[in-house]
Amino acid sequence: MTTLKYLMSGIAGAALMATGALAADLTIVHGSVGRDQEILRKQLDQFEAETDHTVTIVSMPESTTDQFGQYRLWLSAQSSDIDVYRLDVIWAPQLASHFIDLTPHVADIVDDFVPAAIESQTVDGKLVALPMFLGAPALYYRADLLEKYGKPVPETWAELTETAQKIMEAERAEGNSDMYGFVFQGAAYEGLTCNAQEWVNSNGGGRIVEIDGSIDINNPKAAEAIDLAASWIGTIAPEGVLNYKEEDARGVFQSGNSVFMRNWNYAYALAAGEDSPVKDVFAVTTLPHGGEGTASAATLGGWHLGVSKYSENQEAAIELVRFLNNYENQKERAIVTSRPPTLNAVYEDPEVAAQQEFIPLWKPVVDNALPRPSAATLRKYNEVSAAFWTAVHKTLSGEGDAAENLATLDAELKRLRGPRW
Ligand code: GLC
Repeated sequence: MTTLKYLMSGIAGAALMATGALAADLTIVHGSVGRDQEILRKQLDQFEAETDHTVTIVSMPESTTDQFGQYRLWLSAQSSDIDVYRLDVIWAPQLASHFIDLTPHVADIVDDFVPAAIESQTVDGKLVALPMFLGAPALYYRADLLEKYGKPVPETWAELTETAQKIMEAERAEGNSDMYGFVFQGAAYEGLTCNAQEWVNSNGGGRIVEIDGSIDINNPKAAEAIDLAASWIGTIAPEGVLNYKEEDARGVFQSGNSVFMRNWNYAYALAAGEDSPVKDVFAVTTLPHGGEGTASAATLGGWHLGVSKYSENQEAAIELVRFLNNYENQKERAIVTSRPPTLNAVYEDPEVAAQQEFIPLWKPVVDNALPRPSAATLRKYNEVSAAFWTAVHKTLSGEGDAAENLATLDAELKRLRGPRW
């Protein structure tokens, strides 16, 4: 029945290609952070006004890990309830078989997109999702407090640790008992994989699973980085950071209670917003690195739009994916949410530069962002990441040191891999 209905709407849709698909009631699912949903709804209203379609948003919890669990349930049940999924950059290899190949539907626009973004969503020649926005985190810092205490912007994790401690203590001594030094995403979920990959990689400890599939995470540089992070818990970072996701960290920083924060780009527009207590006193820089010979690492993030193979409105869903990623909508999103766009030209737009300085400033960081090993580990990425964040979370929680937990992780990853990924 489903197949028949789909075939029929496909045929009717094909005949109407030039003027758009038949009126459809579409559903899009996404995890909303910050102002994502507000701007999405605004753009959907415009889509509805310009076409005969209607679009309902299904909103997911903030955690990408929770979203993935729910997405997998819908997709494995071949549910036609959702037409368009907003997919995390890492999921393409695992979910590819559930989405249509967008290649023929975006042939006329694909060259306008950041090539690496398209590549990240291409699995065996199939374009699983059309890139919507990218992510490359920053170190947010209180410029006023660094100035007050005569401290330079930290370049290494050791400097950050020391400066955070000093300023936190001095501010507490002056009566701000809620002050902390550093907040980040320390809960046991995908966000911790991103943070910890940055600590490890920027300390010369590799990338969990290398591009060629080899596993070398059980190394002294990786252990040193994670042990340093463990020393932050209950000192410069609140104990509660062990449960923090993006919005928890932002809440603390934006209310003025942390000297430093690691967060994604969306936090910039909000921290700089009219009602933000820190709007005039914070700045951003690249994340710190380890000692001599190491370099800062920013994990590549981002969310992209895929059309479900089980959708009964594929024609209209494709129209929607194209619409949400057109120049004007990307531009508006970049300005309002400070999410890095996926269209090259938006980075050059003078109005974007004037109204959201973070976008052109961060282009080089976005271009050099470090992907997670999802391409290397293919269908096993979620398990690899879960094993990694578990080992890190245990270390942060004081259950064994990093060397011990990385040795266990190493064995677990080798078991997961078997003869090949
Ligand atoms: C951001 C990133 C995404 C990442 C997630 C982790 O949403 O865009 O790629 O997986 O954070 O919490």
